Amino acid sequence: MKTIQLNINKVLGQISKEQIFAQAEQAKHRNKTLEEGTGKGNDFLGWLHLPSSITEAEINDIQATADRFRATCDVVVIVGIGGSYLGAKAVIDALSGTFDPVENKKPIITFAGHNIGEDYLYELSAFLKGKSFGIINISKSGTTTEPALAFRILKKQLEDTVGKEEAKNRIAAVTDKAKGALKTLADKEGYKTYIIPDNVGGRFSVFTPVGLLPIAVAGINIKQLIKGAADMENATSSNVAFENNLAEIYAVTRNELYNNGKKIEILANFSPKLHYVSEWWKQLFGESEGKEGKGIYTASVDFTTDLHSMGQWIQDGERSIFETVISIAKPQYRMEIPTDKQDLDGLNFLAGKRVDEVNKMAELGTQLAHVDGGVPNIRIELPELNEYYLGQLIYFFERACGISGYLLGINPFDQPGVEAYKKNMFALLNKPGFEEENKAIQSKINS
Ligand code: PA5
Repeated sequence: MKTIQLNINKVLGQISKEQIFAQAEQAKHRNKTLEEGTGKGNDFLGWLHLPSSITEAEINDIQATADRFRATCDVVVIVGIGGSYLGAKAVIDALSGTFDPVENKKPIITFAGHNIGEDYLYELSAFLKGKSFGIINISKSGTTTEPALAFRILKKQLEDTVGKEEAKNRIAAVTDKAKGALKTLADKEGYKTYIIPDNVGGRFSVFTPVGLLPIAVAGINIKQLIKGAADMENATSSNVAFENNLAEIYAVTRNELYNNGKKIEILANFSPKLHYVSEWWKQLFGESEGKEGKGIYTASVDFTTDLHSMGQWIQDGERSIFETVISIAKPQYRMEIPTDKQDLDGLNFLAGKRVDEVNKMAELGTQLAHVDGGVPNIRIELPELNEYYLGQLIYFFERACGISGYLLGINPFDQPGVEAYKKNMFALLNKPGFEEENKAIQSKINS
């Protein structure tokens, strides 16, 4: 099996190999704790074996629904927020055309319910007018305000356009097996519904219908994605020796850097297609580890674009950062730089080279410069950007996140801090049941 590669050589000026290997036993112990289900948050470990346990029948059922959407819709709106949309968005953006996202594969996939922007919803609604569209509404709790609000608006538009009966064929729900308003609504309306297992949290749900259904609707091969993840599940099991276990090494390395004052991890890529992989990763690690006054702050940059904005800070600012770079060994397409007789731009020294050769030299040059500037560098290399290696990458990060959270001593599988803004917002909007909070918040506003 060809796998993604992890290279930590360029952190060794800051922390030593001995320091990392001294933590090998701890990492192994945390990985076993995950597998044995004896650690914090052990009622949310269903993600651990999703890739190897999903059945052919489950995959075929998801594919059949996806094919129905693909056959009937020009646009499919994925409604969800946080873990209920970022995994799908990451994979779809990485594996779709940048300028013609659909290429020969219809439908267009678009997203809603991940913000409360009135202009966003207005423009989406205007875009959908006159188009044949469908909706996939994803919410584990079934009560999250942002997607519920977007769904209410889009459902009405769909029903007004095609009638209530036809609308039912163009809506699917992904939610809890029993709880939440979305489950009640889906049952009542008779929507095709998929269940998110109780023991899988939002940000770990890519390999459930939360991620797989939208990804399949986009025409992406979910079997290959799952295969990559299943191979990585094997490769990161606690039976695999520390020196070969990418998830354990990554978890230990980032924790050692954190303990040495590196409080911010910047995920960098050299392909714009990976922008949302970083967004997904930021949530995975940020929401899992930012607790009890602890945790690495997760940030991201798209290079070389952001070398012209954040490059100065990274090279020369406060030395509290380390960088993890995702590199793609081989681009999907080939493009050479042409010769120009006049050479007025002075670029003939690059003529005949591939654009990717320039990008790779920018990558190497950046790594060396940042390491010289005191920024430890972790490098992850994907042989190619395809379903199989993305499946590996996603599972690798999930596994590493579980181990890393346990090394940090927190519960990586809850998110109590997310509730604070919701309580205030409901109080401010006079939601029934929030009268006391409303009084309290008024006095805070006026103080
Ligand atoms: O990772 C998580 O649990 C969160 O990001 C949730 O996915 C997010 O808050 C959306 O929640 P829900 O799916 O219940 O609407």
